[in-house]
Amino acid sequence: MFPPVYAITKENPYKVCFVCLGNICRSPTAEGIMQHKVNEKNLQPYFYIDSAGTAAYHVGERANATSRQIAKGHGVILLSRARQFSPFDFQEFDLILAMDQSNLTNIIALDPPKEMTDKIMLMRAFDEHHKNADVPDPYYGGIAGFEHVFAMLERSVEELISQLAPHIDHS
Ligand code: 4NP
Repeated sequence: MFPPVYAITKENPYKVCFVCLGNICRSPTAEGIMQHKVNEKNLQPYFYIDSAGTAAYHVGERANATSRQIAKGHGVILLSRARQFSPFDFQEFDLILAMDQSNLTNIIALDPPKEMTDKIMLMRAFDEHHKNADVPDPYYGGIAGFEHVFAMLERSVEELISQLAPHIDHS
């Protein structure tokens, strides 16, 4: 299930790409939370963290203003610029985390030989509260939806880091 994890070293950091539709709400928030937690734990050399969207609607844009506001309230600064997910990302990343079933379907469609399936998972595979549920798109809803998304992403990212941490070789 979980992709095979090699020893994570400074020379060979673990690379994670969070993916949603627009790359302006959910995946930049997940990226920002993971970078924040990695920084807090002094694990920066061991991780490379990025995000992308399956659609190109918002390429080049900063994260959604409400996403940034909610994240900032939790001490997380979202710095990303939207980009579209590319099939090259299958080679680049060790783990590709889709925010919902639709994102998962879109990502898998970019890998017709089905060679990368082991690297692709749902973000909430790491959410013990509701395993493999969708991270709902907050874009068209109110502020409460953004808070709800932040909370489930924070839980999931914390669990992801705790499952990866034993694979870090600090020597
Ligand atoms: P995201 O949210 O996938 O979490 O970045 C969305 C942002 C924009 C759109 C859809 C979802 N849109 O259709 O423009």
